[in-house]
Amino acid sequence: MSMKIEVQPLPESARKPKPTDEKALGFGKHFSDRMFIMEYESGQWRNPRIQPYAPLTLSPAAMCLHYAQEIFEGMKAYWTADGRVTLFRPQMNIARMNRSAELLQMPQVDPDLFLEALQQLVRLERDWIPRTEGCSLYIRPTMIATDPFLGVRPSETYIFYIIVGPVGAYYPRGFVPVSIMVSEKYVRAVRGGIGSCKAAANYAASLAGQVEAKKAGFDQVLWLDGVHRKYVEEVGTMNMLFVLDDTVVTAPLDGGTILPGVTRDSVLKLLRDVYKVKVEERPLPIDEVIDGAKTGRLKEAFGSGTAAIITAVSEIGYRGQRHKVGDGGVGRLTQRLYDDLVGIQYGKKPDPFEWVVRVYPE
Ligand code: COI
Repeated sequence: MSMKIEVQPLPESARKPKPTDEKALGFGKHFSDRMFIMEYESGQWRNPRIQPYAPLTLSPAAMCLHYAQEIFEGMKAYWTADGRVTLFRPQMNIARMNRSAELLQMPQVDPDLFLEALQQLVRLERDWIPRTEGCSLYIRPTMIATDPFLGVRPSETYIFYIIVGPVGAYYPRGFVPVSIMVSEKYVRAVRGGIGSCKAAANYAASLAGQVEAKKAGFDQVLWLDGVHRKYVEEVGTMNMLFVLDDTVVTAPLDGGTILPGVTRDSVLKLLRDVYKVKVEERPLPIDEVIDGAKTGRLKEAFGSGTAAIITAVSEIGYRGQRHKVGDGGVGRLTQRLYDDLVGIQYGKKPDPFEWVVRVYPE
């Protein structure tokens, strides 16, 4: 690694009280005392440092604010049952961030420096990691374009930063099944677009559909493909998997419209290599899902994501009708995947694929 990370002192006045009730953490509301940050100019990253968590100073003309040249990642750190602090497959997030950067014409971050920044920051902030199972330290690496310029072109300056904070369940009702509604009016991504990368703009594009679903009484929106408006893609913050008879079906990544989830990949590996369950990555028509719900072929449906972990889907709304999935509870396979994934992450179960990376003790 070429650059050393400077660790700045944390004055007593910059220390915040930690939330005391871990059961009431919610998601994305609390941030720790420190952050990692570095700036890019003249073709290189400079001054990587861990400093007190503080507001950014940006020109009101900063390009990220006007043209959404902004990408991010979502990861978690855990206290394991035996007193270690770990990350889950951080190399996958690092690689994905660099792929997002490539698509949005932003600079690459040296993977070794990125991992070192994650490890040092999480190690320093380890007292912020909740100990309650299901809770963790959420990690949000972010890159923004900072040229003060209103012409449309890639920026020449950037800020890369990482903030962290304690979280519980992503959905406000906790780890319970959610309902999703198919949007027929809006699409999230199209072939040739940026749907496969973690661009802030994708989430802005999802808001109208999300509000539409909420107004109709559902928790989340289920996206269909943007070309045929026929094939199931993903949910606002999770990849989607459907258990049809004894086969697990999920949308393929090759169209470039689906976010290649780290949890999705982990689930597919568990299903294929450990459970020996049949998996199909193929375009899945929404009609097949709805027919499955009507005939009983659709045994389970669940979402996967870093924030959402494994979340059961109890109901699917389509064309004004609500369709129950299985018995509306958490299915057998969904529960098994949740237990195994969380078990690996919290160090309670063997880690057959060596997904867990230790951060503390060093
Ligand atoms: C995650 O699962 O980490 C995500 O980034 C989804 C998010 C937008 C909450």
